[in-house]
Amino acid sequence: MIDQRFLPHQFVIEQVTTVDQMATAIREMHVRGAGLIGASAGYGMYLATLAAAAHGADFDKYLAHAAAKLSATRPTAVNLAWAIERQLKNIGGGRAPTEQIAIARNTARQIADEDAEHCGMIGQHGLRLIEQIARQKAGQPVNVLTHCNAGWLAFVDYGSATAPIYAAHDRGIPVHVWVSETRPRSQGSKLTAWELGEHGVPHTVIADNAAGHLMQNGKVDLVIVGADRTTFTGDVANKIGTYLKALAATDNKIPFYAAVPSSSFDWKMRDGVSEIPIEEREADEIKNADGWFDGKWVEVRVTPSDSPAVNYGFDVTPRRLVTGLITERGVCAADERSILALFPEHAPS
Ligand code: MRU
Repeated sequence: MIDQRFLPHQFVIEQVTTVDQMATAIREMHVRGAGLIGASAGYGMYLATLAAAAHGADFDKYLAHAAAKLSATRPTAVNLAWAIERQLKNIGGGRAPTEQIAIARNTARQIADEDAEHCGMIGQHGLRLIEQIARQKAGQPVNVLTHCNAGWLAFVDYGSATAPIYAAHDRGIPVHVWVSETRPRSQGSKLTAWELGEHGVPHTVIADNAAGHLMQNGKVDLVIVGADRTTFTGDVANKIGTYLKALAATDNKIPFYAAVPSSSFDWKMRDGVSEIPIEEREADEIKNADGWFDGKWVEVRVTPSDSPAVNYGFDVTPRRLVTGLITERGVCAADERSILALFPEHAPS
């Protein structure tokens, strides 16, 4: 897998062969982004079946232990628990370890393949939104603002929020992306900017706090963000700072969409603000900044050494601020009725 900590300056491939290595890779964000976390956890469970069989361990007990270890790595992206539960259910249907290993391998592959397929469909549905705006812009670029990285690095292939952007660019529609830097881990300036640049999509990196100013001055046509967990009622948890962008978008009457594959829906939680667990990470991520200097990675302190810092990873944008959700089955309003109309199999019976 790509060890994303070193992008955009170094392209490092990491070999992951054990559950412990996978848990570390997810927790320490060598891999990150909701879809990729789910796909990685799927393969983590496959590695668990291999290890359980090799060690002659009590298969079920070993798998439960691996599932608990992987589940504990990061709390907010629901794809993690979703992938692990799907693996446990499928593996439980096998009778002998060899069969269970084969089931786990197929399930991991299915999770990854579905992710790519669903993001591809999100791209096509979101493309229509960009096309509509492009028609009113007489050849001027459609300015899309995004936050964090919900691109192909955060998924298996196209990404969620970036999929419509890539689809529009590939179709020759002029698009320009405002990339919000996303302190403290800088997924915007490090990852999204790199991805878009590699694909040839015009983009500009902005400080996180610049979004409101750009919106007030008519420089943003559309906001598309990803989601780490979306309640079936339409509340969207995404990278910290997303809520503020939604507030500014609402104030300036700019459409604000979240791109959400079905794997990122939480079909049990009703109220995102009170129920979605928000990850708190190391204070040092706030107190320090890192980057590439003189051919190597350096980390420097940016706060007074003894100032305390707190590092919330995500926030929740309430459904009233979300214009719509772009899913693999189409675009819908961010409310329970519209979401369940697209996904009737999740309606309470
Ligand atoms: O902490 P991360 O990098 O795993 O956060 C996830 C994200 O990249 C974003 O919140 C993203 O917009 C949604 S996940 C595709």
